[in-house]
Amino acid sequence: MLPERPPARWPQFDRRLRSTAVTARVGRLLGIAFGLCFVTGLLSHYQYHPWTWLPVPARPAWGYRLTQGVHVITGIACIPLLLVKLWSVFPLLFQWPPVRSVLHALERLSVAVLVSSALVEVTTGFLNILQWYPWTFSFVSVHHWLAYVVAGSILLHVAVKLPTARAGLAEPVRDGAPPGGISRRGVLIAAGAGVGVVALTTVGQVIPTLSPIALLAPRRPQQGPLGVPINKTAGSAGITHIAASYRLTVLGPRPFDLDLAALEALPYVERHIPLACVEGWSVSARWGGASLLDLVRRAGGDGGSTARIVSLEQGGYGTSAIRGSQLHQALLATHLNGRRITLDHGYPVRLIAPDRAGVLNTKWVTRVELR
Ligand code: HEM
Repeated sequence: MLPERPPARWPQFDRRLRSTAVTARVGRLLGIAFGLCFVTGLLSHYQYHPWTWLPVPARPAWGYRLTQGVHVITGIACIPLLLVKLWSVFPLLFQWPPVRSVLHALERLSVAVLVSSALVEVTTGFLNILQWYPWTFSFVSVHHWLAYVVAGSILLHVAVKLPTARAGLAEPVRDGAPPGGISRRGVLIAAGAGVGVVALTTVGQVIPTLSPIALLAPRRPQQGPLGVPINKTAGSAGITHIAASYRLTVLGPRPFDLDLAALEALPYVERHIPLACVEGWSVSARWGGASLLDLVRRAGGDGGSTARIVSLEQGGYGTSAIRGSQLHQALLATHLNGRRITLDHGYPVRLIAPDRAGVLNTKWVTRVELR
């Protein structure tokens, strides 16, 4: 049996600034931010693994730009919200007795899973947008599967705390401030202002007019060769030059290949297509080149074909598949904003299609295979 009172060294906390009213309000905001982040994250995942009967549509062309922008901004906003939420409930973790029953033990275990999975999820997501991978596991798999653990444990947590959350929301935020110190209301305002600052200093990677204050955005849209940033350089993809023997091969019932001169001589089409990166930044640009569908038809395919685009890059994102309305709108681009694309942008030719994750717009294309 545990003693009725905690041991003398058991941590004690000042609850003057903390209250259920504060926790419930921060929790509500955190739940909304996590919810938006989860749904947009699933939409991003769908870009890589669409169902056979429902390819990713080409319209709206800015679809992925919007959803991935929201994903990254809400994910970043979750960091200060999560920290304030944990600060507001920290003393509850040191209740006495620590465990009252088997059910209580299970609830505490689910809270431990919630806190640890949420912290790992937001930390790995944030490090990923900085393109810093201080781990050996696959970021995409861990981030994807852990998202279900976080979402499931939030649902369970909200269900358990619903009566307390309701009571907290119904109650006004009473001032428990020590004289001269910050008030509970002040804590909420500071948390809201923190989230606002974080969002404002990130959103500039999607909205060009706000890019001068995008201090938290690792990329500034429009800053890069030909007005578009580079995520993966040719050097980091192991491509140092394009050999004179380069050919673009199109494999299908009527295979053919094109040398550089024949590629340049193809009918030229220009389209405004946003390039939207998984790391949240996006920029609209004028792309020019050959219609992919024309090449698919010339090789014996049609609008219902699936084209597998193969890059000179080995491994990584060296291949991608395209079909449906994205295939109809896609270009094998040779030009960007009126100029010949550079090696870092995918010279001699790269795929570009609307509403498509940036990394799936394969660069340095050497082969198109029809399925
Ligand atoms: C990642 C998301 C969240 C984390 C990590 C988290 C964490 C925690 C923790 C550690 C506790 C203390 C648990 C205990 O009583 O032993 C707690 C309590 C609580 N949480 Fe959350 N929470 C999250 C989301 C939410 C959401 C979305 C709501 C919805 C309003 C919410 C409302 C509450 C309430 C009302 C309490 C009890 C506060 C009290 O008794 O004064 N939480 N939370």
